[in-house]
Amino acid sequence: MQSIKTLRSTRHFLPEPVPRSTIEDIIDTARWTGSARNRQPWRFIAVTTDALRIELSKLGRYAGHLAEAPLILVLLSADNGFTDTEFDMGRICQSLCLGAHDRDLGTCVTTFHPSDNVTRLVALLGIPSGWLPHHAIAIGRGDPHRHRRPSAVPTGRLPGSTLLTWA
Ligand SMILES: Cc1cc2nc3c(=O)[nH]c(=O)nc-3n(C[C@H](O)[C@H](O)[C@H](O)COP(=O)(O)O)c2cc1C
Repeated sequence: MQSIKTLRSTRHFLPEPVPRSTIEDIIDTARWTGSARNRQPWRFIAVTTDALRIELSKLGRYAGHLAEAPLILVLLSADNGFTDTEFDMGRICQSLCLGAHDRDLGTCVTTFHPSDNVTRLVALLGIPSGWLPHHAIAIGRGDPHRHRRPSAVPTGRLPGSTLLTWA
């Protein structure tokens, strides 16, 4: 419960690399996330090279922080036409972020918007047909000295009394 409450987005990172084994461990746990009909409509590409990270950071207004993240996990969703796929992707994404948080790694879910950036990313990473990279997770050790820049997006959360009604 505490992990859910303390998971916040990190957009400033220290340059220290994320060990390959750490990402493999996080995925090894997150892969147990349930999905509709157990389709597991997800695959991941870990990006660590400077050149590619900088290219990815240029893919839209909301992706700038990717240049600083030592590791970018690109989330591929199956282009299978099922409405449940989006739901499944949200679940695996939260599992991955909580797994990273558990290891004191910061994360920021990132959207490649608008869709021509998705097309560019497909070409850049040579993603096979049938898979779409709409989102990525920036992962790395958060920089405690450049904590959080003011955001145009409101912070905080709606109270439970607004969210829940009983019938
Ligand atoms: C589906 C999704 C897409 C997001 N896309 C971006 C993004 O493109 N760029 C970004 O900086 N943050 C992005 N975020 C992070 C949200 O802005 C953030 O989670 C929200 O403002 C709440 O802040 P917190 O995570 O620090 O609690 C995204 C989050 C989600 C769940």
